[in-house]
Amino acid sequence: MVSREWWRSSVIYQVYPRSFADADGDGLGDLAGIRSRLRDLAKLGVDAVWLSPFYTSPQHDAGYDVADYCAVDPRFGTLTDFDELVSEAHRLELKVIVDLVPNHTSSDHKWFQEALASPEGSPERDRYLFRPGKGKHGNQPPNNWESVFGGSAWERVARPDGTLGEWYLHLFDKSQPDLNWRNDWVRTQFIEILKFWLDRKIDGFRVDVAHGLIKKAGLPDYFPPKKPRGMPATPFWGQPEVHEIYRTWRKLIDEYPGEKLFVAEAWVSPMKKLANWVRPDEMQQAFNFAYLGTPLKAGRLKSVINNSIAAFGQVGSPSTWVLSNHDVVRHASRFGMDVDYPQGDGIGPKSPVKPDRELGLKRARAATLLMLGLPGGSYLYQGEELGLPEDIDLPDAARQDPTWARTKHKRYGRDGCRVPLPWTPDGETFGFNNSTESWLPQPSFWADYARSIQEGDPTSTLELYRLALSTRKAKSLGEGQLRWLEGYPRTVLAFQNGAVIVIANFGKKNISLPRGEVLVASGQLTDGLPPNTTVWIRAPK
Ligand code: NOJ
Repeated sequence: MVSREWWRSSVIYQVYPRSFADADGDGLGDLAGIRSRLRDLAKLGVDAVWLSPFYTSPQHDAGYDVADYCAVDPRFGTLTDFDELVSEAHRLELKVIVDLVPNHTSSDHKWFQEALASPEGSPERDRYLFRPGKGKHGNQPPNNWESVFGGSAWERVARPDGTLGEWYLHLFDKSQPDLNWRNDWVRTQFIEILKFWLDRKIDGFRVDVAHGLIKKAGLPDYFPPKKPRGMPATPFWGQPEVHEIYRTWRKLIDEYPGEKLFVAEAWVSPMKKLANWVRPDEMQQAFNFAYLGTPLKAGRLKSVINNSIAAFGQVGSPSTWVLSNHDVVRHASRFGMDVDYPQGDGIGPKSPVKPDRELGLKRARAATLLMLGLPGGSYLYQGEELGLPEDIDLPDAARQDPTWARTKHKRYGRDGCRVPLPWTPDGETFGFNNSTESWLPQPSFWADYARSIQEGDPTSTLELYRLALSTRKAKSLGEGQLRWLEGYPRTVLAFQNGAVIVIANFGKKNISLPRGEVLVASGQLTDGLPPNTTVWIRAPK
């Protein structure tokens, strides 16, 4: 058999370090905590872990505001802890992917502090996007762009003499100034950062905001179309010049032994355009957010699956699949509502529609089993293997996502999917640590979702994930090919992938099942396949 690169069929598990496991008991998870739990992840059956940022940072955007790209924030541990984590992971045959945040730095970063201390027009200022303001006194922002987190994307700074001077661009929080990727000095710095982590034997990078590094020349105003069809073209996302950057990076990682991975966080559509991020000389993978955003309707799912396989296939890349991450409402809650709130809005006590917990979990299990039956690579987000719902009752005072403050409490933001994991049903923090501290409070009913009580219970979500992952591996589903099966109702998805038939019923009635051994089922099979249930059946020889 020809050996294929590991990432073509891998399942990668996202660890959100703040909320995974907290060894020192300060209420914020850490690298030592992650290391102590790696065995659980190996047992779950994933191939790799992706760590969200653990670098030195003032934590205004949960670490996506990096103040030193080559240092571990003391709250998360030390570089030695990191090295130990990587060796332990490798010993357990788990690969380690780290997050790279190249679009912006923290405003605490020394590059930005040097830029502020340097005169307008200086090379230090040119590392970022400083521009004079509009209007007679320059007191209007340089253009009309808005921050993703709400409010203007520009902030004005004072000159050393105290008078007001230029503005800088920040597509996210004002503590996250955008770098100027047309500047060669910036490019060189990032080559060194990539080498730093590659030399520490990591297996790849998840690239944050990979669609945003280059802004359209002249930074023109942006007027969104009144009736957008798909994702409108903007002067800040998806500029063609970003690709040249990734080609340079790809050349670099190809010089390292082993198969190193780049996965793009690129919110780009249509799928054909997104596929440009994974051409043979660029990155290997891109997150499939179109799939994540598709409601559980058989027709819609079928078309996004076909489009993904076709678009990525055109450039020789496998598709990826994902249902949850640290920026979206957990899928066990999303699928328990008839409405979908816009990405980043979150759900909170005053949201008009709240998820039905039981229905949400049932549908989430069905959706996951469908996803893991697809060929290509999949991504899991910590806690989904426990069936965790979104925490929709976080007290206002606990919320930390900058979206909450920047929108003056109009959008709840993403804290509800970031609450620390329950490991045991008892203890003040359900085994997240041995203290009483937790950076976000956990709901008391999460005791019922604790990992320890799901272990060995064949009806638990944890055991469903384990069985699905081991079966997926044994049957090589990640490397397989999908062939749709005819003769099922329109509300049902049915396909064969190698030796497995996958059937997902999103209709209202039970359907009868073909004969064959049931390998995995997302729910009880009574009288055929009930609604909101997926099953894997051994295909006839
Ligand atoms: C995407 C990350 O996933 C998100 O959490 C972060 O806030 C933004 N990029 C800005 O870095």
